This record gives sequence, C-alpha cells and structure tokens, in this order.
Amino acid sequence: MSNYEKLKAQLESAPKTWLVTGVAGFIGSNLLEALLKLGQRVIGLDNFSTGKRENLVQVRALVTSQQWANFRLVEADICDAAACIEVCKGVDFVLHQAALGSVPRSFDDPLGTHRSNVTGFINMLEAARRAGVARFVYASSSAVYGDDPGLPKREDKIGRPLSPYAATKLMNEIYAGVYARAFGLHTIGLRYFNVFGRWQDPEGPYAAVIPRWVAAMFRGEPVYIYGDGETSRDFCHVENVVQANLLAAATTNPEAVNQIYNVAVGERTTLNELFQIISRLVRKRCPGLPEQRPIYRDFRPGDVRHSLADISKARLLLGYEPVYRLEHGLELALDWYAQNVV
Ligand SMILES: NC(=O)c1ccc[n+]([C@@H]2O[C@H](COP(=O)([O-])OP(=O)(O)OC[C@H]3O[C@@H](n4cnc5c(N)ncnc54)[C@H](O)[C@@H]3O)[C@@H](O)[C@H]2O)c1
Repeated sequence: MSNYEKLKAQLESAPKTWLVTGVAGFIGSNLLEALLKLGQRVIGLDNFSTGKRENLVQVRALVTSQQWANFRLVEADICDAAACIEVCKGVDFVLHQAALGSVPRSFDDPLGTHRSNVTGFINMLEAARRAGVARFVYASSSAVYGDDPGLPKREDKIGRPLSPYAATKLMNEIYAGVYARAFGLHTIGLRYFNVFGRWQDPEGPYAAVIPRWVAAMFRGEPVYIYGDGETSRDFCHVENVVQANLLAAATTNPEAVNQIYNVAVGERTTLNELFQIISRLVRKRCPGLPEQRPIYRDFRPGDVRHSLADISKARLLLGYEPVYRLEHGLELALDWYAQNVV
C-alpha cells in the first residue's frame, strides 16, 4: 500500500477540519472533491475573482449529500484580514491555494497580483498562526526558479524571478519561513510545475496552455505557440497535486515540516511535442477534425525557457509518488473537456 493510500485510510477513520482557500478555482475544487470523498469537514474560501461557482456545482454532483453537508463555503477576500481570522477558527489544516495566477496577468496587473498573492498570503499566515492550526500548506510555483538555467530544478537552488508573479511566490516562501522560525507555525510550500486537468478554465487571455489548446482543437480554432515550440515544461496532472497537498498536511515526519517541495512528474515535454500529443488525442475522439499546424508567435516576456523538476525530495520526505503521467492525465482531462467545453 502506498503512503498516500495509507494516509487516505487514516483520514477516513479520523476526519479533520480543512480550510481550502481558492476553493472555487481549478486546483481548489479538485482538493475539495478529494477531501469530501474522504469524509473530511471542509471550509472553502473564495472571492470568485477567477474561480467559478460551476466548479462547486460539479463537485457537488460527484459526492454524496452526506459528504456535501460537510462543506461550508465562505465568500470572502483574503485581503480582508478579519475575514481570514474568522475563517481559520477551529481549522486543523490549511491548504492555501487562493492567488492570482498567470505570469502574463502579473505584467498587466502587478499591484492586483501583489495584493492577493502577498498581502492576502500574509493575512492567511497570520490568521493560521492565531488559530493555532496544525499545518499551513501553500501553493508556490516553479516560477521561483526564474533565470536559473540548471536542470532538473532542485529546491535549494533558485535564480532571480522573471515576473511580478514569480516575485509574489518567492515572497510567500520567505514569509512562510519567517513564520516558521519566528512563531513556530508549521508550514509546507509546494512548488507546482504546470498543473493541468479537469475544471481548469480554457477561456480568456490568461488561460494555461493545455486547456487553451484542447478547447481550440476541439472547436477547430487556431492554436498559437509562443516562441519556437522548443520551450519545455514538466506537466503535472492535478491528481498528483492533490496527493502532494494531503501528504504535506498530514505528514508526521518532523524533517518534512517547514520545507519547500517540487510537485511535478519529473518529465520534460516541449510545446511542439505537447501539440502533437494533444492533436493526436483530440483527433482520436473526433476523427472528422482536420489535422492542424500550430501558428508560431513571439516569445512572451517572463516565460521561463525550460522547466523540469527533481522530485526526489518530495519522494523521500513526504512519500510522494506521482501516479498520473502526461498522456494518462491528458486522457482524463480530455474526457471532461469533450463533455464540457466544446
Ligand atoms: N495551475 C498551475 O499550473 C499552477 C502552477 C503553479 C502554481 N499555482 C498556484 O496554485 C494555486 C491555485 O491555482 P489554480 O490554477 O487553481 O488557479 P485558479 O485561478 O483556478 O484558482 C485560484 C482561486 O483563488 C481565488 N482567489 C484569487 N484571489 C483571491 C482573493 N484575493 N481572495 C479569495 N480568493 C481568491 C480565485 O477566485 C480562484 O478560485 C495558485 O496559488 C497558483 O498561483 C498554479
């Protein structure tokens, strides 16, 4: 039995109270579903700035009415310090996901990104400290590796941030470290590498590459690649991210706490390769669709050229073992996109 399977059995037999911020977002709603299915009590906080009520409707349809009764939604902004304090009361574990994602958005709106990602973050840390929560797990990002050219990325060596978004995520790690050292708060930071899966929004200028391309291909619309397509990423299915969050919240290994971990698969795929894989999988489902060629555009500012994680630290200290590799994860995601976005 894997560490994760053992943990799930433990949680089922002794339910805890969890706070998931950003619960209506892509990763937050996937966490909510997993926790409710394990019989956990979940408080979800969101201001619906990028999150969707529809994501919560989808979760509701996948759990029993008894499991759904364990969920309480708090509509609030993490920039409201008093709301953060109120929502942390009685919570065992915080899974802090709320933030404004996207590197390009942070170029368009650095102040808004800072407010949610840094002011909101310290509000949540402070509220968690006052409430005496057992663990504060938060979403960092592979963006903190910035201009460090080394591959694979190891947690102890980062470069300079290349975007306002990356700067906010680095600030999160700095503040979490300070709250651990100065106040004894137990924190764990998870540096997510390009996450994808069901419920990730394909629409709008800040959509991530996989949902954007999948939706465009199903609709027969053009697919754009920024740069020459040789940019590479370590694409990670959201189920792996759910696993990392639960392991981080519940680990009893003292060495594992107050650490930062890469959360990825440990495999690198170029955008050109990704295009070929998605194109093949979409046309397997819709054989009538004509074969497409990507349209190449200029590189985008702030984008890191190559990204590949070394996940040995999470494996060793948390017992993390990614189950979903790129193609398997894409099959699952496409099942949902085919039903919901075409
Ligand atoms: N998706 C990825 O590939 C990826 C990669 C690295 C890091 N992350 C991080 O993971 C977390 C979740 O990302 P996601 O992809 O689910 O994004 P998302 O936009 O789908 O979810 C973020 C959620 O946070 C909420 N939110 C934003 N600002 C808020 C505020 N001020 N107050 C309350 N709620 C607020 C949004 O409404 C949304 O529901 C973020 O912290 C993001 O930076 C994501």
